[in-house]
Amino acid sequence: MINPISLSLFWALTFSPTAALAQSTPSAWKTLAPVPAGPIHEHAAAALNATHLAIVGGMLERGGVIDSVYIYDVPKDAWKKVASLPITINHANAAVVDGKLYILGGMTGAQWNGTPRSWVYDPATDKWTAIASMPASEARGSAVMGVYGKVVWLASGKTKSGGESVTTVSAFDTASGKWLVDIPAKAKNIPEGRDHGGGGIVGTKLYQLGGSLGAIENRKDTVFVLDLEDLEKGWVTAKGRMPTPRRGFATGIVGTKIYTFGGEGNPDRTYGGVFKEAEVYDTVTDTWASLPGMNLPRHGSAAVVMGGKIYIPGGGTAMGTPATAAFDVYSP
Ligand SMILES: *[C@@H]1O[C@H](CO)[C@@H](O)[C@H](O)[C@H]1NC(C)=O
Repeated sequence: MINPISLSLFWALTFSPTAALAQSTPSAWKTLAPVPAGPIHEHAAAALNATHLAIVGGMLERGGVIDSVYIYDVPKDAWKKVASLPITINHANAAVVDGKLYILGGMTGAQWNGTPRSWVYDPATDKWTAIASMPASEARGSAVMGVYGKVVWLASGKTKSGGESVTTVSAFDTASGKWLVDIPAKAKNIPEGRDHGGGGIVGTKLYQLGGSLGAIENRKDTVFVLDLEDLEKGWVTAKGRMPTPRRGFATGIVGTKIYTFGGEGNPDRTYGGVFKEAEVYDTVTDTWASLPGMNLPRHGSAAVVMGGKIYIPGGGTAMGTPATAAFDVYSP
């Protein structure tokens, strides 16, 4: 149905003399329906298909780790609550394979202890089913995630609040329901510990960008790369360096470019220690470029790419607990 407002907007855009100007400077950011959980950060998010994304767990601004799961419908710009995860979780490691949502560990409880417990969610039945836990020694949250064929790869992460930044690489084969135990030594660890990094898979390569080592302020600018078709070669450090070393940023991959948004640990307190920076890594040229910053600077959100656009629900608006329910989408 065409309502009077959209009709008048149509007339204004089509016939007003300023239309050309308005169209030549479109904002890259658009605001969407807010996250129903309220102000939230450290949740996980993943695209279920081309039009729906899911967010899992997280920390509410007023404290408390939650087990809630919500699905967002792009065409309707609407959220729906679905079956909760069996435990409360933050910094969950989430990925989707064949339309099913996998939670492969994360952090749970008041101490944010790393948990190896894992589940799969089937949107068709609205049910969570327990699957093999990751090896106990690899339990962690905030890993960099990537899906290659039927295998979900996890790189780096944090074992608990104030805990270790790890070098661990894990892989779960959704076809066999097993964690891979034969990852070659050179592929099994990234070159140096990281948590709250970003990245994912482009082509055959798994990228681990930035993150911190130990203290929040010890932010890193590195790009570590593993060719999943040549695991024996192991991880290499690329030449390209993030212009602004960051951790806790949101990552979205569009084509061969990896977009990074926000983060925390900013010595400049303009945004409460949060970064406004948006920077993009070109995996083909191994170079970085800066983009106009975020409309709403934040950390501890998650980015999901659908239809070439990058959706960023919620996030922390300052270091610590301040958060937002705001949801926006970036069009590269
Ligand atoms: C995408 O996922 C949503 C949520 O499970 C579902 O309602 C929708 O039908 C799916 N779309 C397609 C094209 O499969």
